[in-house]
Amino acid sequence: MQTRAISLGHGLDVFVTPLRDGDEETVRSVFNRAEPCLTAAEVGGLAAVDARHHVLVAQVPGDREPAAIASLVRTGGTSAEIAFAVVDRYRHRGIGSALARELIADGRAAGVTDITALTAADNRAALALIRSCAKVRRVAFEGPELTISAAIA
Ligand SMILES: CC(C)(COP(=O)(O)OP(=O)(O)OC[C@H]1O[C@@H](n2cnc3c(N)ncnc32)[C@H](O)[C@@H]1OP(=O)(O)O)[C@@H](O)C(=O)NCCC(=O)NCCS
Repeated sequence: MQTRAISLGHGLDVFVTPLRDGDEETVRSVFNRAEPCLTAAEVGGLAAVDARHHVLVAQVPGDREPAAIASLVRTGGTSAEIAFAVVDRYRHRGIGSALARELIADGRAAGVTDITALTAADNRAALALIRSCAKVRRVAFEGPELTISAAIA
């Protein structure tokens, strides 16, 4: 996949590229500047890209550090779990939604029809983000966590 240039419509552009398999530095760079922090094993898992695990990285021109990362892990025939992180200073500017749209388009092209996302129960941004690019079917509260299930077909 080539680099995609995306205009967010308010003077901010981002470049979106797939994560190179094993690129733990990029994963760490996002998560060192975003919540939540990841363990070394989690960083390694996120950076391990293969046919089952697709990861996209967003970069703002002029900033050498990545602005956001999004991951899609196939969990079954047509289902996948997705996760996102945008670094603090780039939040609420549309980058998460833009990256989600690209990730979901890639998933759809690869035959994924249903996604789930796990997040904190009070994470209104994550729920709004998924609502903006998928048809939310179910929102289930499990203690402090929220599981969002959505269709993307
Ligand atoms: C969740 C997260 C990825 C959103 O990224 P973002 O780039 O800030 O999101 P966007 O600017 O594209 O906004 C997406 C939607 O969330 C809303 N939103 C953004 N920040 C918000 C906030 N702090 N409170 C409430 N809503 C918020 C936006 O208004 C938008 O909704 P709309 O489409 O109805 O207008 C980002 O906050 C983040 O990295 N959080 C920490 C990690 C995380 O929680 N990941 C989700 C687990 S799946």
